[in-house]
Amino acid sequence: MLTINNLHVEVQDNEVLKSVNLEIPDGEVHALFGPNGSGKSVLIMTIMGYPEYKVTEGSILIDNKDILELDINERVKLGVGLSEQRPPTIKGVKLKNLLELIEHKDKKGQLYVNDMIEKFNIRKFLDRNINDGLSGGEIKQSELFLLLISNPKLLILDEPDSGVDPEKLKKIGGMINESLRDKRFEKRLPSNHLNRNSGLIATHSAAILDYIHVDKAHVMINGEIKCYGNANILMDQIKENGYEYCINCQHKNNM
Ligand SMILES: Nc1ncnc2c1ncn2[C@@H]1O[C@H](COP(=O)(O)OP(=O)(O)OP(=O)(O)O)[C@@H](O)[C@H]1O
Ligand SMILES: [Mg+2]
Repeated sequence: MLTINNLHVEVQDNEVLKSVNLEIPDGEVHALFGPNGSGKSVLIMTIMGYPEYKVTEGSILIDNKDILELDINERVKLGVGLSEQRPPTIKGVKLKNLLELIEHKDKKGQLYVNDMIEKFNIRKFLDRNINDGLSGGEIKQSELFLLLISNPKLLILDEPDSGVDPEKLKKIGGMINESLRDKRFEKRLPSNHLNRNSGLIATHSAAILDYIHVDKAHVMINGEIKCYGNANILMDQIKENGYEYCINCQHKNNM
């Protein structure tokens, strides 16, 4: 699904990403850990194609197609969907206006959207300007809902759990699983049930991992992926030994 090779990225003439390698196979969801300022959001914004992030070397492939020459719109059409760490407020545009643009026009599609509006308590946000005056947790809820309705096949989520209370976290986990088309938590399907979309989720907390099946985690330190492994085990080790552990672990410098 997503293959990143030897990616170097400059922001305002500073090299922030230094040879990042990352592979997310079809149907897998990977977590991205790393200290503040290590380059997680820069990686995510570069995958999405924001022009201020300048790729100086390396490649980003979606389904084996190099996307570096594509603009954001074209990447969205390929199936890449992003929920930003700090989504912007857009005054004058209501959530329902954006929904009308991306909503499926057929009756079945509309019924699905209505179902999802009720299931995830979105009705109260429909007449509000995008993110205007919403609390931190509500912004995450509203952003993830837009992502769910736009049906991406690669979900890129930058800290979907930051600032979210434990009860809403469960709802947000449910929305992410709905976007991934992953029903295993809901219906207790066997854990090898893999008929789902792919994802990359930057997070500092393992809390969201209670609700989403994550296949692997990568640790980014100072613009490089230094380590990978089982997400829960890695998070426990980071909590106990700090990120220093990741620099020296047995998977050092691997994908
Ligand atoms: N637009 C920008 N202009 C200048 N520097 C930037 C810009 N965007 C990112 N940086 C710098 O790049 C580095 C990596 O930032 P990034 O936002 O990717 O960190 P992060 O790993 O996402 O951190 P956090 O966990 O705090 O979200 C930081 O030093 C940051 O200041
Ligand atoms: Mg960030």
